[in-house]
Amino acid sequence: MKKRALLLTLSFLLAFVFTGGYQVLAATAKENYEWYCTQCHGLKGTGDGPNARPSKYGIKQPDMSVTPRNHTSPKDMNKLSDEDIRLAIKDGGKAVSKSALMPPFGKTLTEKEIDELVKYLRKLCKCKGKE
Ligand code: HEC
Repeated sequence: MKKRALLLTLSFLLAFVFTGGYQVLAATAKENYEWYCTQCHGLKGTGDGPNARPSKYGIKQPDMSVTPRNHTSPKDMNKLSDEDIRLAIKDGGKAVSKSALMPPFGKTLTEKEIDELVKYLRKLCKCKGKE
């Protein structure tokens, strides 16, 4: 009897996974940003997270040699098109001839999550970007 209950639970779980039910649990762009980006780009997106500016947080480590983009600066973010941003997030800084200190997230985030992050960054800078 116990075995049958277990099998039943398992098949429900598998159906849940294969039908994409877990997508309900997908993270929002803000959650992804806070989880994956803020350690360098800062909680507010100003480019001074603890990994980039440890000295600011009282950590005795050298600051990052390249400053992570300030996502709240319309001046900086207007230099980039949505496609530039998408590529930087997906394939990393190197893909857009910038520092490899900006890591690639193409294997961590889905295309949809990346597209939503692009929109989220546009909200942070309150800017439309390069056409
Ligand atoms: C390990 C630190 C680090 C993490 C984590 C990180 N970044 Fe960056 N990011 C950088 C640095 C450093 C730069 C500046 C690169 C340069 O100017 O050469 C940068 C630049 C960028 C740029 C501008 C690229 C350009 O062409 O000017 C975007 C957009 C960006 N990051 C988005 C993100 C997003 C979104 C996340 C989270 C999914 C993220 N970054 C996570 C360090 C990081």
